[in-house]
Amino acid sequence: MASPFLVLGLFAIICSVAFASDPSPLQDFCVKDSNSTVLVNGFVCKDPKLVQADDFFYRGLDIPGNTSNPVGSRVTLIDVERISGLNTLGISLARVDYVPGGLNPLHTHPRATEIMTLIQGTLQVGFVTSNPENRLITKVLHEGDVFVFPRGLIHFQWNIGHGNALAISSLSSQNPGINTVANVVFGSQPDISADILVKAFQMDKNVVLDLQSKF
Ligand SMILES: *[C@@H]1O[C@H](CO)[C@@H](O)[C@H](O)[C@H]1NC(C)=O
Ligand SMILES: *[C@@H]1O[C@H](CO)[C@@H](O)[C@H](O)[C@H]1NC(C)=O
Repeated sequence: MASPFLVLGLFAIICSVAFASDPSPLQDFCVKDSNSTVLVNGFVCKDPKLVQADDFFYRGLDIPGNTSNPVGSRVTLIDVERISGLNTLGISLARVDYVPGGLNPLHTHPRATEIMTLIQGTLQVGFVTSNPENRLITKVLHEGDVFVFPRGLIHFQWNIGHGNALAISSLSSQNPGINTVANVVFGSQPDISADILVKAFQMDKNVVLDLQSKF
């Protein structure tokens, strides 16, 4: 008879495969019921008889995002908050605008792989593989180029062209989540102790305090 540990190990492997992306739908659709107060993984379904075309619709992605901010980029995310019909479908969409020199700073999506098409401009993009290699995989993109950022990996896009840049991304979750590294590390609420950050980043305490004041 297989040892309980082997069985547990196999169970863990099977689960990690089964839950490698948003769970699969068990019906045609499950439009988010914004009135329900029941907490489930995702959202409770609205009565299918009450579902309308507008539950699957968003207007306005032709409008550029506001890039007047310190990094010079803006992500407009069309996720389940903006299209209720995305609930359980495991997909979402983003428009990203960049001024010249604008950066979509280092971040991860805990629940989604991202596939990006560059519509306008020139971007340097990249992601870094996990420990211990921490290999930087990077590429310069031109109009019409497509690039993939694997789920969970730290990545960035930087506008190295002379004009504005515009990209459209698809993400493999109704709610990809965004962890911007600088904000998570130096801008948590409450602060991570400066002594922890000094040790983690081998940095001077004044630099840590300065970064904490910025984020
Ligand atoms: C939520 O409640 C409001 C007010 O009762 C109603 O007009 C609306 O249709 C409801 N929405 C859903 C998704 O059931
Ligand atoms: C863009 O954002 C800046 C900074 O938050 C703000 O001052 C400005 O009014 C915004 N512009 C538009 C068109 O919303």
